[in-house]
Amino acid sequence: MDGVIVDTAKYHFLAWQRLADSLSIEFTHEHNEQLKGVSRVDSLERILQWGNLVLNNAKKVELMDLKNKWYLEYVEGVNPNEMLPGAHDLLLDLKKNGVKIGLGSSSKNSVMILEKLGIFSLFDVVIDGTIIHMSKPHPEVFLRGASALQLQPVDCVVFEDAISGVQAAVDGGFRCIGIGDPSVLGQATVVVSDLRGMSLAQLQSILKQ
Ligand code: G1P
Repeated sequence: MDGVIVDTAKYHFLAWQRLADSLSIEFTHEHNEQLKGVSRVDSLERILQWGNLVLNNAKKVELMDLKNKWYLEYVEGVNPNEMLPGAHDLLLDLKKNGVKIGLGSSSKNSVMILEKLGIFSLFDVVIDGTIIHMSKPHPEVFLRGASALQLQPVDCVVFEDAISGVQAAVDGGFRCIGIGDPSVLGQATVVVSDLRGMSLAQLQSILKQ
């Protein structure tokens, strides 16, 4: 979802950066790239590791709550205009053609965002951070999604903007369309710069690869 359907990845970045700043830990776009697709708790652990900071659990919970409070403030006004290019058209096209659609996200805020965008009803299943036990790069989120859709991984295509997500898809036996920079998402089956013009025919051809 974040960074694939809607431009919320930038709000996660801002909130994590604000948290890292408050801890005097350096946090760049390169650092952020490594948090994409990674759960809230694992994201915090990585930041603390970069800062060589060891904290007790109560403090970690406090920091995660703070980051999420800031994130929720940033996404308060999120609206359908912030959907990424081509994403809405593709979802509508797939729906019209009877293709099953699942959301696989590490975020615990997924349903709230889908509702703000008015697209929740387009998804046959939602597997998110409130359900999974192991965050991407573990393939659990996609394996559960395929299973809930009663499909085999080999018959699904995963869309991903995150290194961790591409890894999860590949390890789970899925074809994967990377959205972003080919030098970052090189493990994906194909990499595109955005979803404009993406069609069901292209998905069918990728499934044959
Ligand atoms: C979590 C993480 C964030 C990560 C996102 C992926 O979201 O906080 O770092 O990029 O998942 O979708 P949260 O559960 O905090 O919304």
